This record gives sequence, C-alpha cells and structure tokens, in this order.
Amino acid sequence: MQVEHKTALVTGGADGIGFACAKELLRNGAAHVAILDLATSPGVESVRKLNTEFGEGRGIFVVCDVTKDSEFEAAFAKTFEEFGGLDIVVNNAGIANESMWESMIDVNLKGVVRGTILGLRHLGKDNGGKGGIIVNTASIFGLEPSAWSPVYSAVKHGVVGLSRSFGATYHYEKTGVRVMTICPSFTRTNFVVDGGSDFGPFVDRGLAMKDIMQQPLQKPEIVGEALVEIIERGESGSVWISENSEPVCEVLIPKRFELIASSRMQN
Ligand SMILES: NC(=O)c1ccc[n+]([C@@H]2O[C@H](COP(=O)([O-])OP(=O)(O)OC[C@H]3O[C@@H](n4cnc5c(N)ncnc54)[C@H](O)[C@@H]3O)[C@@H](O)[C@H]2O)c1
Repeated sequence: MQVEHKTALVTGGADGIGFACAKELLRNGAAHVAILDLATSPGVESVRKLNTEFGEGRGIFVVCDVTKDSEFEAAFAKTFEEFGGLDIVVNNAGIANESMWESMIDVNLKGVVRGTILGLRHLGKDNGGKGGIIVNTASIFGLEPSAWSPVYSAVKHGVVGLSRSFGATYHYEKTGVRVMTICPSFTRTNFVVDGGSDFGPFVDRGLAMKDIMQQPLQKPEIVGEALVEIIERGESGSVWISENSEPVCEVLIPKRFELIASSRMQN
C-alpha cells in the first residue's frame, strides 16, 4: 500500500518516534494524520507544526490515553468524523518505567492490544471496512532480552507475539488488514535522554545509562522512514528492525526453533 492519499492514526504521536512517524507519513503524501496522545503531551504544538509544514487541516490532535477504552473508542470515531475514513493505525505509545511496571504493561501491551482490536474492528473487511494496515511499535528488546529493563522487554515480546499472531494468514484473509511490527533500536527521544527511563530497583541506573549512552543513537526520523517503507512493502505478520540509522530490515524468525537435546536424552 502506498501512503499517498491515505489517512493514518498514530498513538503517542505528539513526541519522539510517534511524531516523526506522523511527519514522515505526511511528507510521503498521506492525506491526514490523527495524533492521539495524553492531554499533558505537546500534542497541540505538534499538530500546529505539522499543519504549518504540510497544510492546514492535515493533522488533528485527539486527547487519548490508550489505557482508557472509552477515550480510545472516541478517538477512532473522531478520526472517522474528521477525515471520513481510516487506512493506517500505528500503535506506538509507550513508556519505560520498571518501577511502575504495572502501568508499563497497561500502556505498552494492553494499549497495543486495545489499539489492534479497535483497528481490526474499524478496518476489517469482515466488519464492513475496506482493509488497511496496523503497525505496532515493539523494540529491539521485543526480540532479545534486556538486563536493564526486564519488564519492558517482556511487554515488547508480547507486542511482537500479538502482531505476528493477528498478522497470520487466517486473520489477513478474513480482515484484509496487514498487521506488522517495527522494532526500533536506541533512538534519541525522551526515552534515552532527559532521564525518561526508570530502571527500577533491580538495576544500577548509572551503569545502565552509561551503557545506553555508548550505543549509537539514531534520529526518530529514521524510524519514521522505516515505517513508511514497511507500510509500502511489508507482508502481514512481518517483523522489522530499525537500528543504527541503517535501512529497515525484516527479521527472519524460524517457524520452529532448533532444539538442543538434553544430556539425559543423549545418554
Ligand atoms: N526511544 C527508543 O530508544 C525506543 C527504542 C525502541 C522502541 N521504542 C518505542 O517507541 C515508542 C515511542 O517511544 P519514544 O521513544 O518516541 O518515547 P517518547 O516518550 O518520546 O514518546 C512517547 C509518546 O507516548 C505518549 N504516551 C505515553 N503514555 C501514553 C498513553 N497512556 N496514552 C497515549 N499516549 C501516551 C507520550 O505522551 C509521548 O508523546 C514506544 O513504544 C517505545 O517503547 C523507543
């Protein structure tokens, strides 16, 4: 699917990677983008920037906490009302807080489940929709462990599992909605600068930050570009890594892992 003339909805779109995604969608010819974010976010200013750069009325800001069913439902309704349709849903909102790990599960996993179900319900051909695309933002730590952020890694693994499962042929043939995952690596946003991450009581924060600051940090725009490429050529169920400012790469996950025989069996 080309993003040209399409309408998109981006959760957590007021800042960081989400804002870069909204911007990149409009730069590539998307007709409209709805930014869904918290009332405390810089959403008003972010949409003003988008409309100044790409033209009045191209973007709207809808206050929506992805942990709240009613707000999320209303935000989808508002997007349809304003723009007359919806083609692309990007479930990107996330936090990094090991101390408040239950909130992290609520936002990063339950929020993505909620957004995926709402997306399928509104876009799915089985529900009278015209099909479309859902891209869920996981992380490189949705594919590998993170000693610094164990619960974050767990929820991001959950996002990968959810998106691969709803991305399966069975669902795609029914709904006409491609569900894909993007896994960014270290990206320069509030997450990694401005003390945006809380590593909780199990980790030496100084050590964690020292390690993270040694990683190559890419600009959020790189992830925005990756998103557009995935929308244009990714298959349903596919998982993509955006890291080190390199072109986005699809991850090859074997259908069945190779098993190592236990020593008992060898004897
Ligand atoms: N920055 C990185 O290094 C990195 C790496 C891998 C994955 N990610 C993922 O990318 C996504 C975006 O993160 P970011 O780095 O841009 O962080 P960010 O803090 O810059 O942006 C996150 C946005 O989500 C919003 N948000 C938070 N809770 C919300 C809620 N309950 N409802 C709606 N919006 C909410 C925030 O207000 C903010 O605008 C997250 O899912 C994050 O896990 C980030």
